[in-house]
Amino acid sequence: MTAALAIEDAVKTFGGHRALDGVDLVLPPGEALGVIGESGSGKSTLARAVLGLHPLDSGRIRVGGLDVRTGDRAVVRELRRRVSMVFQEPRESLNPRMTIAAAVSEPLRVHEPGLGPADRRRRVLEALDLVSLPAALAERHPGALSGGQQQRVSIARALVTQPTLLVLDEPTSALDLSIQAQVLTLLRRLHAELGLTYVFVSHDIDAVGYVCDRVAVMLHGRIVECAPTEQLLTGASHPYSKELLGAALSPRPA
Ligand SMILES: Nc1ncnc2c1ncn2[C@@H]1O[C@H](COP(=O)(O)OP(=O)(O)O)[C@@H](O)[C@H]1O
Ligand SMILES: [Mg+2]
Repeated sequence: MTAALAIEDAVKTFGGHRALDGVDLVLPPGEALGVIGESGSGKSTLARAVLGLHPLDSGRIRVGGLDVRTGDRAVVRELRRRVSMVFQEPRESLNPRMTIAAAVSEPLRVHEPGLGPADRRRRVLEALDLVSLPAALAERHPGALSGGQQQRVSIARALVTQPTLLVLDEPTSALDLSIQAQVLTLLRRLHAELGLTYVFVSHDIDAVGYVCDRVAVMLHGRIVECAPTEQLLTGASHPYSKELLGAALSPRPA
């Protein structure tokens, strides 16, 4: 079976510093993989590399068998449709001057230009429904929405093209704790319902543990441990994983 995502010995340097220092990962289709680690460990660099936004110094990244470093425009188009990203700040993907409907339909105009207005509208409303937002919000602007609603719109926008792989970089870190729990519940439900492959990056081990099947622990651009969630939470073997788990044991709501 072709892996949903295969990363082989990925190295990425910034001015001589190795942000990724030989990362290997293989995700079967439908797996939700969490990536945790302290700030600066290389999580966002890894996420962006999967999107093809950071060309690697060496190594290889393939999505469903397609190399993200391709020069072939048709392959690039296909990759952009297959892989979507959700960022920490909804404002990174939402233009304040666009209505919610326009923001969610924008990727469709790029990836399915043949779609007529009625079909586009239908797909937008389906995507909003998927993230439990009422259709009545479609004509509003992002500024009229709460932070949690804005992040739901970002997720709808990421899903509207029906990708196979969703890369989420700290998708709940900017939200209030109670709203975080709601968005995590949504992400877990979407993973179960849609059978998507996730790469879920977070410094929050609880968030990742709630949504993901398996967790990779990053430190200084390397994956020091990667194990099924249950196994990692109950019996991490690497000292750094234990340290992260210890830090996460402080009580929190939800
Ligand atoms: N665009 C960039 N230019 C220069 N250095 C960068 C860039 N992006 C990340 N880095 C560096 O790479 C390392 C990993 O960063 P990052 O992937 O953002 O970590 P994390 O998301 O785990 O906090 C850090 O040392 C950071 O300063
Ligand atoms: Mg980051």
